[in-house]
Amino acid sequence: MTQTIIALKEELTALITAANDLQALDEARVGALGKKGRVTEMIEGLGAMNPDERKTVGPALNALKDDIAALIAQQEKALKKQTLDARLAAERVDVTLSPRPEKRGSIHPISQTIEELTTIFADMGFTIAEGPDIEDDWHNFTALNFPPGHPAREMQDTFFMPDDPEAEGERAKKVLRTHTSSVQIRYMQTHKPPFRTIVMGRTYRCDSDMTHCPMFSQIEGLVIDKNIHMGHLKGCLNDFLKAYFEVDDVPMRFRPSFFPFVEPGAEVDIRCDKSAGTLKIGEGDDWMEILGCGMVHPNVLKNCGIDPEEYQGFAFGTGIERIAMLKHAIPDMRTMFDSDTRWLDHYGFAPLDRPNRATRD
Ligand code: PHE
Repeated sequence: MTQTIIALKEELTALITAANDLQALDEARVGALGKKGRVTEMIEGLGAMNPDERKTVGPALNALKDDIAALIAQQEKALKKQTLDARLAAERVDVTLSPRPEKRGSIHPISQTIEELTTIFADMGFTIAEGPDIEDDWHNFTALNFPPGHPAREMQDTFFMPDDPEAEGERAKKVLRTHTSSVQIRYMQTHKPPFRTIVMGRTYRCDSDMTHCPMFSQIEGLVIDKNIHMGHLKGCLNDFLKAYFEVDDVPMRFRPSFFPFVEPGAEVDIRCDKSAGTLKIGEGDDWMEILGCGMVHPNVLKNCGIDPEEYQGFAFGTGIERIAMLKHAIPDMRTMFDSDTRWLDHYGFAPLDRPNRATRD
């Protein structure tokens, strides 16, 4: 019997070590340890043996089973490594290759759009402000009139970060900013009105589909002065939309909406035409939502040390990917961050492209 076990072990070992792909290995495993496998059948045969025989053969068979299982695991690991090594070798990219002039890089539509927006708002007398991507709870929420526990905080699918051990209270609670509105607060705290500024930058919300990404970019505008009203907001947005979409007129519709940091708050729809399968902005019978806006809430001004009796202002915000997708007919937002060079070849811009028609003459 021992002789048979030794011979079987040799035979199975040869079979397993000869398996040169995962499928062959699996066949060898089934043949040895499967329900009808050779080792399994021998173990089942133990029942028919006399007790003395079973005492010696039983442990030998168990040892055989363990050895074979270990050998299979080892072979499987080796085969997987071999497959991975082959794949890595096949997909190797030689980053040391010298640049090829026929493969010139291009400007990503987001960068291009940021350039265009900068040009448009600089023409309108706006400065540009920046702020941190990792914000504290106070700047992202409380100062913007979302007190702790306010249900509107839940609307934002916030990514919460570990607390900052060196800060206290709401300033210790860190989040990835859910909007660039937090930079409004930082700007108002450090500048004396009157001013007009725009903020552009990355924002983060736990959301992903064709029109949402967990990381996206926003543009936010803020104007603070004396005697500012909704008419100024409307005029400013109209000038911006006409310049950005490069059309002579963009009819707009204001729908009341709620953002804790503005009162009144509105969402703006623009006229568009989707009938011909392509999107035309500024004409047609459809409306499309494009941005959020409103008059800065007096509580927000107070939180930043600005007297709401003396100064008022408006703010507006929208997604940079969203307006880039509309202008350049990009159907899926997620492709913006795939780093696929074929996509960039198609949607990218030549390095020295002048942003807008208005500035191209
Ligand atoms: N911050 C808002 C958002 O992320 C947009 C907004 C900005 C609305 C400014 C009103 C005023 O949805």
